[in-house]
Amino acid sequence: MKPLITVDNVHKHFGGTYAARGVSLELYGGEVLALAGDNGAGKSTVIKMISGVYQPDSGTISYQGENITGKNPYEVRDLGIETIYQDLALADNLDVGINIFLGREPMKRRLGFIPVLDRKTMRQEAIRALKDLGIVVNDLSIPVRYLSGGQRQAIAISRAVYWKAKVLIMDEPTAALGVPEQREVKELIGRLKAQGVGIIFISHNLNDIFEVSDRILVLERGRKAGERLISETDEDEVVKLMMGR
Ligand SMILES: Nc1ncnc2c1ncn2[C@@H]1O[C@H](COP(=O)(O)OP(=O)(O)OP(=O)(O)O)[C@@H](O)[C@H]1O
Ligand SMILES: [Mg+2]
Repeated sequence: MKPLITVDNVHKHFGGTYAARGVSLELYGGEVLALAGDNGAGKSTVIKMISGVYQPDSGTISYQGENITGKNPYEVRDLGIETIYQDLALADNLDVGINIFLGREPMKRRLGFIPVLDRKTMRQEAIRALKDLGIVVNDLSIPVRYLSGGQRQAIAISRAVYWKAKVLIMDEPTAALGVPEQREVKELIGRLKAQGVGIIFISHNLNDIFEVSDRILVLERGRKAGERLISETDEDEVVKLMMGR
């Protein structure tokens, strides 16, 4: 089986900070790869290089064997690589439907020629997408900033599902959530994995990592400190790797 994503020896620096120093990884369909490491270890930098937000100084990113280094975030998303960023990346003032379509809004023509947003289609499609995932949002017309953290995460995930992402990258998806909402997000991860989606899951919570992941890659000050099958490691070893021992 070919990997969905191959990161080959990427380097990235910001001024004098070396955020990624020769990181390589592979992600396969139907698996959850955890990225772990202390604050500032380079986790977000690595996934932003995959999603096209940052360009690596050197090294390459490939998708299904094709070199995609240098593509912008829209091009990467169109390939089926959806990223849910640490800071969530929903448009707070807009409703759920628009958020699911963000950047890909369907248009209709008013009076036959003036292009306007097709809100009705977006609303209907949003209801369907959320229902498919078993997500309950009572009022889809309110701005998403009024939704709970878990609902917001769920909407970000359903956006990925709706657009049939083959790769889902989640940067700290459970950090800001209450316990029931964390459960929901973890269940969603399980369902997507069963559908063959490849998932990269960043978390500081080792319990979550051990619960949902198949493999773990530990970064330490921009370097890969180790990579293990979850079934062949434990929290002690992961913590030691994180601390560079
Ligand atoms: N845009 C940027 N400009 C300058 N420095 C940056 C930028 N992005 C990241 N860095 C630096 O690169 C290093 C790695 O940051 P990164 O955000 O990748 O860490 P992280 O592992 O995601 O940390 P956290 O767990 O706190 O989210 C840090 O020292 C950070 O300050
Ligand atoms: Mg981060």
